[in-house]
Amino acid sequence: MCGIVGYIGDDRAVPFLLQGLEKLEYRGYDSAGVAIYGGGKINIVKAKGRLSVLAGVLDNNKPLMGTLGIGHTRWATHGAPSDVNSHPHLSENEKFAVVHNGIIENYLSLKEYLGKKGIEFQSETDTEVVAQLLEYYYNGECEGKILDTIAKVMSKVEGSYALGIICEDYPDRIFCVRKDSPLIIGKGDGENYLASDIPAILSRTREIVRIKDKEICVLTKNSMDFYNLDLEPIEKETETIEWDIASAEKGGYPHFMLKEIHEQPDAVRKTVSPRIKDGRIALDEISLTAEKLRNINKIYFIGCGTAYHVGVAAKYTFEKLVRIQTEADVASEFRYREPLLDENTLVLITSQSGETADTLAALREAKKHGSHVISIVNVVGSTIANESDDVIYTWAGPEISVASTKAYSTQLAVMYMIAIYLADLKGAISAEDYDKYMADLQALPEKIEETLRETEKIQYFASKSFNANDMYFIGRNVDYAVSLEASLKLKEISYIHSEAYTGGELKHGPISLIEPGTLVIAFASYGKLFDKMLSNIKEVKARGAVVLGVTTQGRTEIESETDFDFYVPEVSDFMLPSVEVVPFQLFAYYVAAMRGCDIDKPRNLAKSVTVE
Ligand code: AGP
Repeated sequence: MCGIVGYIGDDRAVPFLLQGLEKLEYRGYDSAGVAIYGGGKINIVKAKGRLSVLAGVLDNNKPLMGTLGIGHTRWATHGAPSDVNSHPHLSENEKFAVVHNGIIENYLSLKEYLGKKGIEFQSETDTEVVAQLLEYYYNGECEGKILDTIAKVMSKVEGSYALGIICEDYPDRIFCVRKDSPLIIGKGDGENYLASDIPAILSRTREIVRIKDKEICVLTKNSMDFYNLDLEPIEKETETIEWDIASAEKGGYPHFMLKEIHEQPDAVRKTVSPRIKDGRIALDEISLTAEKLRNINKIYFIGCGTAYHVGVAAKYTFEKLVRIQTEADVASEFRYREPLLDENTLVLITSQSGETADTLAALREAKKHGSHVISIVNVVGSTIANESDDVIYTWAGPEISVASTKAYSTQLAVMYMIAIYLADLKGAISAEDYDKYMADLQALPEKIEETLRETEKIQYFASKSFNANDMYFIGRNVDYAVSLEASLKLKEISYIHSEAYTGGELKHGPISLIEPGTLVIAFASYGKLFDKMLSNIKEVKARGAVVLGVTTQGRTEIESETDFDFYVPEVSDFMLPSVEVVPFQLFAYYVAAMRGCDIDKPRNLAKSVTVE
């Protein structure tokens, strides 16, 4: 997720662009840049690092006096953070400058096509392909007709995009187009603005127009004209924004955590869909050959906190699908226990930030013993990503809230893809199973969306629970993995004591903690062990527990044993954590809100633990 802004009017563009980008830094902050029309050409200034680095460069340079410009703050997806990979991107002869939010999924084939035409690329990014395509068609078959050129390019690119485009031949207008990524136009007085999100323009106007998918906007300082991709003019409604600036940065949500919970369907879709080609998983990032995989006899899943919980779910999934011995461990233990590692060991490292000290140390321990390391990371170019043999990025966008939600969901989705991919590579699953898993994987965003529509029920249960002193989460197999994550979410933001146990373990001690009124959330969705979980529910009910049962739609027999019930959509059983976790991210959120906790910045915690 990135942030784009644009200005056209009678003032200098740079000050507006910088304040707008500052308001959008929550969308990405690994590099930033501006393109300003001035002196008969497009001038670009861009830099790796936070926006303050760009502002410093702009201050030290000859001031860019132009009154038309576009700007960008980046969350890297393709190409690590660097000056050259920063936006805006220029076309080869500097005819076009482009800022982009989204992912061009077919950029490699387009880059190859243009390369054969002799066009040389400067960056590793997908976005530069758009700038080069614009100039290629503008100078070629579109014969300098700018709207035809834009429509032509949009017919060639696949993926998601919000684009701000300036052209050397049009010093008085900005061209905007979007598909799947947000883009708004702000109406000023003798000036107009474009932005990825409302906070960037609120200092100047509350009158906005939302560009819809596959619409083009031509912006001048006194006009805004809209077209569809057939270049037919379209009428648009103006909307007045009532938000205050602070809430606007959260997209209207009261907290980043709630916003990120609701971003999960899109985050999973953006992480999965570019890696499915012709109905099959295409993990080009994995360098493991079938030959090398055949020699792998042990797989470790390593991470901390939420990232570790992904590994616990993966342990069950890989053992079931890939049929190789697996183990999940927390990085802080793994790094000191002298684990048995060699070139036949595969280590999967998970980390949202890519900078967690214990996880990085575990990675180095694995590399020291010649093991193959694949990491699943959300921050492009982070230390863990750079030191891994293979890295598969989750394209969740920046996760601001300390409590991890969308990173967890996208990490799970990547784990499923790796498991299915390796199982297929090993010939360990049938073609029928492969097809079923692929169908479920691609349906996951909609299934997650479905659970988000049950918010009221979760709020009700939270209203009955927020004064509890203790809460226990139980489950078996992957239901245990999600119990760990649901319990962590609750304790880290509401400060209520909470534990997670395997259902079968209760009678070996923890059941002594159950007394009349104790709250127990029982995950009983894993079909093969449903009856076992019903027994565990009866065990705690017999000691007076109040039980919320969680199971898949249709399994109503659970209602005879529990006090409350929550049903989740049917999915392949190893994917259950993806649909079970969302209601309990919301549960933790509402309990914490009812207790007046600081939800995005819980006490004692940090977003990235870069110390031991
Ligand atoms: C999760 O909600 C916590 N913020 C924490 O456990 C986190 O998952 C852990 O510190 C690992 O962080 P990482 O994914 O950035 O490595």
